[in-house]
Order: sequence, then C-alpha cells, then structure tokens
Amino acid sequence: MKSVVEALLSQAIETLKQQGVLAEDVSPRINIQNTKDKSHGDLACNIAMMLAKPAGMNPRALAEQIIASLPADPRINEAQIAGPGFINFFVNDSWLEQQVSESLADEHLGIKRAIQGETIVVDYSSPNLAKEMHVGHLRSSIIGDAVVKALEFEGHTVIRQNHVGDWGTQFGMLLAYMEEQQNNGESLDLADLEGFYRASKQRFDDSEDFATRARELVVALQSGDEYCNKLWAEFNSISLEHCLALYKRLGVSLTAKDVRGESAYNNDLQTIVEELTQAKLLTESQGAQCVFLDEFKNKEGETLPIIVQKAGGGFLYATSDLAAIRYRAQQLNADRVLYFVDQRQALHFNQVFALAHKAGFASEQTSLEHLGFGTMNGADGKPFKTRSGGTVKLVDLLDEAEERAIALVRSKNPDMSEEELNKIGKAVGIASVKYADLSKDRARDYIFNFDQMLSFEGNTAPYLMYAYTRVASIFEKAELDMNSIQGDIRLEHEKEKDLANKLMQFSEVLSRVTLKGQPHALCSYIYEVAGLFSSFYENCPILSADSEEQKLSRLRLAALAGRTIKQGLNILGISTLEKM
Ligand code: ARG
Repeated sequence: MKSVVEALLSQAIETLKQQGVLAEDVSPRINIQNTKDKSHGDLACNIAMMLAKPAGMNPRALAEQIIASLPADPRINEAQIAGPGFINFFVNDSWLEQQVSESLADEHLGIKRAIQGETIVVDYSSPNLAKEMHVGHLRSSIIGDAVVKALEFEGHTVIRQNHVGDWGTQFGMLLAYMEEQQNNGESLDLADLEGFYRASKQRFDDSEDFATRARELVVALQSGDEYCNKLWAEFNSISLEHCLALYKRLGVSLTAKDVRGESAYNNDLQTIVEELTQAKLLTESQGAQCVFLDEFKNKEGETLPIIVQKAGGGFLYATSDLAAIRYRAQQLNADRVLYFVDQRQALHFNQVFALAHKAGFASEQTSLEHLGFGTMNGADGKPFKTRSGGTVKLVDLLDEAEERAIALVRSKNPDMSEEELNKIGKAVGIASVKYADLSKDRARDYIFNFDQMLSFEGNTAPYLMYAYTRVASIFEKAELDMNSIQGDIRLEHEKEKDLANKLMQFSEVLSRVTLKGQPHALCSYIYEVAGLFSSFYENCPILSADSEEQKLSRLRLAALAGRTIKQGLNILGISTLEKM
C-alpha cells in the first residue's frame, strides 16, 4: 500500500507544481510510515511539513492543498490532516478484502494472463559439448528456467533454445586425438570423453602438427565428411545425455527438443556473410571479413571489429549468433529474445545485437536482451574451484549438497525412515543450491556457501520450504484442502491486513522477473510473505479463533498465503514438500 500512497502523493505534487503552488524544481523524497494508533488511519506522511518552508506556506495549509489534489483511488478511503501537518491515509479495507477473496477463488491466484501474449525466445544453459557440465553452467540453466516459468505463468509463448557449443575447435581436437589413438569411437562413454578431451587439449597446446591436423579435421567435419560426422554425432549424444540427466535432477525444464546448437546454423553462415556484403557492412582486415561499428571502441579510441569469417574461411561464434538471431526473429517470430549468458560476454552480445539490427536480421521491434550474470565464487572470492584448483563438476556439487541436506534433515528428525530422509534431503539439497543462486542479484558475483544455503534461518530454501509445511500442517489438522477452500476473507487484525496487502503484490513482482529477468525479486517477495505469515499466525489464532466465521476467514487467508508461497517457489523451479 505504501507504493500506492506514494504514487498518489507524487501526482498531487505534480498538480500543485502546475498550479504554481509549489516550485517546479522540488522533488521531495516521499516518506510513508505505518501509523501507530489506528484511529489515525493506516499510513502517515510528513510531506507537507517538509515542503512548507521552501513553499513559504503553513504546513497545515499545504497539507490541505495536497489532500485536495489527490486523485481518487478505490484503494484509499480518505486522507486527513493531523497534528502540525501530517497527512493520514485510511486504506479501504473492503477493497482489499474483495481483492484477496477474488484471488483465492482463482486457480491462477488473481494474476491476469497476458491478453496478447508475446513470443519470447529464451537462450539458456547452452553449454559447450564434449565436456562435462561444470558449476559455470549452473547459473544460466536455473536463472533462465525461472524466468521461462514466470513468462509462461503470465501467459506468454516461450520457445526454449539450448544453443549448445557443438561445432568448434574442440571437436577438431577430439577427432585428431581419436585418429592418433586409432580409436574409432566404439563403446565410448562420458568418462572416456572427458579424458580424451583433456588429453587432446594437451596435445593441441604442445604440438604444432597436432594443432594443424585438428584444424583440418574441423574443416572436414564442417564440410560434411561422413566419418568425422559420425564420430562427432557420437560425442554429442554422449554429452547431451549427460546434460539432460542433469536438467532432470535440477528440475530444469529443458529437453532434447530444445537443443538447437551452433551446428544447426552451419548452412546459414555463408548467407550471413553474403547479406553483410550486400549491405556494404563488411571490411577485409588482415584477410578476415569484419564489420566495424562506430559505437564499439577500445580504450585507445580504435573501433573494434566483429569478425565474421577468418582468413582461412572458418566462421566464428559471432557468425553463428548472427544466424541464430536471424532464425529467431524471422522464423520463430520472436518479439523478445533473451540471453542468459555470463556477464563477461556482454561486449559480444552488444556487438552482434547492434549488427543484427543494422543488417536487418532482426527488425527494430524485436527486442534482443542480454541478461548477464556474475561469477559463482568460493570463500576466497575467486571463481569456485576444487581443493586442487580444478573446475568443480556440477554432478559433484549436487552430490555434496544432497549429502549435507540429508544429514541436516536427519538431525531434525532422528526417527525418520531412511527412505523418507533420502527423499526429503535430496529435495532440500537441490533446492538450496538453486535458491541460493536465484536469490542473489544476478548481475553480481556471489560467494557459494553450503552452510548458509542450508540454514533454516534467513532467506533460504530450507526456511521457505519449512514455512510452507507449517501452512500445510494447519490444513492437515483442520482436515481441509488448502487448494479448494474458498469464500470471503475478512480483515480485522492489523497482521491480517499486512499479509493481505503483501499477497496482492504478487503480480507486480512477477513482472519484475519477466521484464527485467530478476528472479531474486521473487525470492525476496516469498521471503516477505513467509515472514508476514508467521506474524499473522502468532497473533491471530486460526483453529482456536473466536468464532467459526473468523476461523474460516483466517483459514482462507492462510490458504492464499500457502498457495502463493508454493506457486512462487514452483516458478523458481523448487517443489514444496508437505512435511520435512
Ligand atoms: N556455449 C557458450 C559458452 O559456453 C554459451 C552460448 C550462449 N548463447 C549464445 N547464443 N551465444 O560460453
């Protein structure tokens, strides 16, 4: 409600500026407090007292003018002057009661579906194949998936695109290594692939001949050589299977049909170069085909190139991204294309987006958005590594999270069966890793900390999952179904109103997730709902309420809170438990 009052006050101030009552250049910070004594309304503001002096007016007289200029709003019953010039607002409780009751009656919690949903392509996860997924792939996969789920909840059409790196130098290295080892790829598994990848990289760095052979084999692969393509397909299917298993374990909704990797654009790359030539955008520089856009300069003020074709004829990462944009805008008819990729690739995306618009691969109406994220760091503030300094495999990280969570759940429930411990522990472990990441501002680096993410206190997955089980247990005791209870909600107690007010902000928070790609806003919101639910629960007895009517009304409010927490967590890709 504070934001509603704030908006009304700024409008009133604008009106008074137009009327010449206030000077054009005042831009006050509007500070709104909850009132202590309810006979003074629900919210109070000292704005008239702040502005009186510069306006050369008596504060009460100014307050009166502000009140007269407030636009009418169904959420506010009235505004009154109090004391030396405070403005007190009386919230329209029946409006709020009606809103919460309507939301409870709606399967979709009162959140309107977009009438004209957009088509939104989301590029996320996108690991490089032939390597096992490591912790660096975690952020893109889970942040992207949370935003995807929020967009779908709002009623948009989402097309997932897993732009896997399946076409680069690494395959030439692997092919050259297999040739050297006289290995024809029979009964290859993931561990072999990992080992071969490391060994081939070593050979590539050590031997010039090997490197040359690797480059030749990339060309052979890309020009359709049958044997190379057969092996390549084998490498990809092994590593994709591994990725898909991880998505499943993480509750990430990507499937095999969402994979459209770099190789899918192989036949379009030449066309991209031709179209850029026709548009007179290409310049040859040291044998390479480049585009120079004035807006991208280095520190020395020199324009930076976007290289689309190397001197030897090979294409680059940027070339396939241009082809991908063309496909997404023209074939998939995307209104927006979102990229969840490491912040360090910001320049690359700014360049290809600008070029794609300029070359007409995407029209200006297609919004291309890089939603970058920071690095996951260890306790030392440096990128997260194993004790021996290697990259941490995602599988190992998740194993450890599960083990720790099982121990945690066991310590709370010494009598629980092993089977149940396992089930709950695994859910809590994975949820904790995901939630810890999602709850941070994505643009920043963050420090990965098992103890913190597995704590039952603070803004963590265990705390919120537990908060949900508390709501669920009320319904179990009452022998009622949280999902089907309906009817009018009355708001009598202050804590009921606070909770109800917060619950009505769900849709506003969701649009932050979908417009700005910020799942952490949803995390903070669920955390606030859980906190307000707690104070409501402590202050307003439910099952032992004064009357049957009050009991039912409180149960309904609790149901709406429970369903909001559950829905919010589900959008973040976290399943709730009924018990833990
Ligand atoms: N495979 C790339 C990497 O691991 C990320 C690809 C992101 N998506 C894109 N369209 N470039 O760095």
